[in-house]
Amino acid sequence: MTKGYKMPKGFLWGGAVAAHQLEGGWDVDGKGVSIADVMTAGRNGVPRKVTDGVKEGEVYPNHWGNDFYHRYPEDDKLFAEMGFKCFRTSIAWTRIFPNGDETTPNEAGLKFYDDLFDDLLSHGIQPVVTLSHFEIPYHLVKAYGGFSNRKMIDFFVRFATVVFDRYKDKVKYWMTFNEINNQTAWSDPHPLLQNSGLQLGADDNWEQAMYQAAHYELVASALAVQAGHAINPDFQIGCMVAMCPIYPLTAKPADVMMAERAMQKRYWFGDVHCLGEYPKWLPKYFERKGFDMDITAADLATLKAGTVDYVGFSYYMSFVTKGRDGDQEYDFKEPDDFVENPYVEKSDWGWQIDPTGLRYAMNWMQDRWHLPQFIVENGFGAYDKKEADGSVHDDYRISYFRDHILAMEEAVALDGVDLIGYTPWGCIDLVSASTGEMAKRYGFIYVDADDNGHGSFDRSKKDSFDWFQQVIASDGEDL
Ligand code: BG6
Repeated sequence: MTKGYKMPKGFLWGGAVAAHQLEGGWDVDGKGVSIADVMTAGRNGVPRKVTDGVKEGEVYPNHWGNDFYHRYPEDDKLFAEMGFKCFRTSIAWTRIFPNGDETTPNEAGLKFYDDLFDDLLSHGIQPVVTLSHFEIPYHLVKAYGGFSNRKMIDFFVRFATVVFDRYKDKVKYWMTFNEINNQTAWSDPHPLLQNSGLQLGADDNWEQAMYQAAHYELVASALAVQAGHAINPDFQIGCMVAMCPIYPLTAKPADVMMAERAMQKRYWFGDVHCLGEYPKWLPKYFERKGFDMDITAADLATLKAGTVDYVGFSYYMSFVTKGRDGDQEYDFKEPDDFVENPYVEKSDWGWQIDPTGLRYAMNWMQDRWHLPQFIVENGFGAYDKKEADGSVHDDYRISYFRDHILAMEEAVALDGVDLIGYTPWGCIDLVSASTGEMAKRYGFIYVDADDNGHGSFDRSKKDSFDWFQQVIASDGEDL
């Protein structure tokens, strides 16, 4: 056993999921179609497709997830047995507003989350809720062009206000947009669709569209923060960034400058969320690129007035980049400008494993944003083998968690980082966001289902279940 550092009293140990990746029940009780419902299954190395509506003969794994919609009481019991103090999930926007532009919410959807939150609270587990986690209503994509349209701000704020009001006595910790900064990889076919619901063609300027959509999301987030605080001043409303620190490949000055620009381009979202203003380099960049942005003085005032209370973030890996000879502008482009890190191992999906990167990132964020932090995702996607007796010996997962939790604890105990809690991703097996696979498993709890939704969906404990239970029971000391 490795000795870790005890986390402070009240530290929120738990687990994290997102509605569309585990609930299933995609068309029940009045739920509308979300962007996730039109994403087909991919595979390791094969991206998912987004179809024009739900098509006969295609496989849509989010339609069944792991069937949490019908089985959550059993799952909540297992979370309680592990010792969870909190459980991070998202509210599926389409359960509340099936199309997204209605004015009256769907009562059956609201009731589902009432029941879920009540059940969690009865086990002493507090819900931590993301408002938008890659599941915007598909109707808003088709009819409005997603967040390319300023009208989306009102739709989002209406949704946020309804759920803030409904759950004001059940939920304290909220986050607005999941991994808002993952859309910086704008050359990938999906992030813009998942995050912002943009449908762009080959002739569109994808980068400009990304900055514009992100601006509207940031304004929507700032308005939601203000609305939430007006409803309950005790609310803690955070942002959610995908934190993957980007290192220079060498000490060559051009590599260092490129890494700095890469960090600016990936984390300016956090600057706006936390500091309430655009960093100085960005308007210069818009000017240089000839981007004609719709950013008003009223928007800038809103951003200043709606800064977040804490930094929620995911951490899975770090990246590396290098400079290009003679490129004075350092126009880093993700993911094209990433290079391999020769010093770290990779998962089967090519994700670089770097626990020290977590400690580094926590220090970096503390110094830059001066806010409490909440690690709302971290984990190891792997192929698990279920033995004949039902056991799963996932020592590779335990080893990943041990190293990352220790790095997190060092950041708190040795570096003074202010950390609210830690919720490992996919605490129960669910559908992978990037590939749509069940086979990319993260859980402490195994779900008997395959990539095509075949199986009993029965739950069982992996070895990591007992291990994490002991970590929580010792407040992080017994790793
Ligand atoms: C984050 C997302 O990107 O990473 C989750 O917030 C996602 O939705 C998780 O599931 C792990 O990624 P993947 O692609 O392995 O499921």
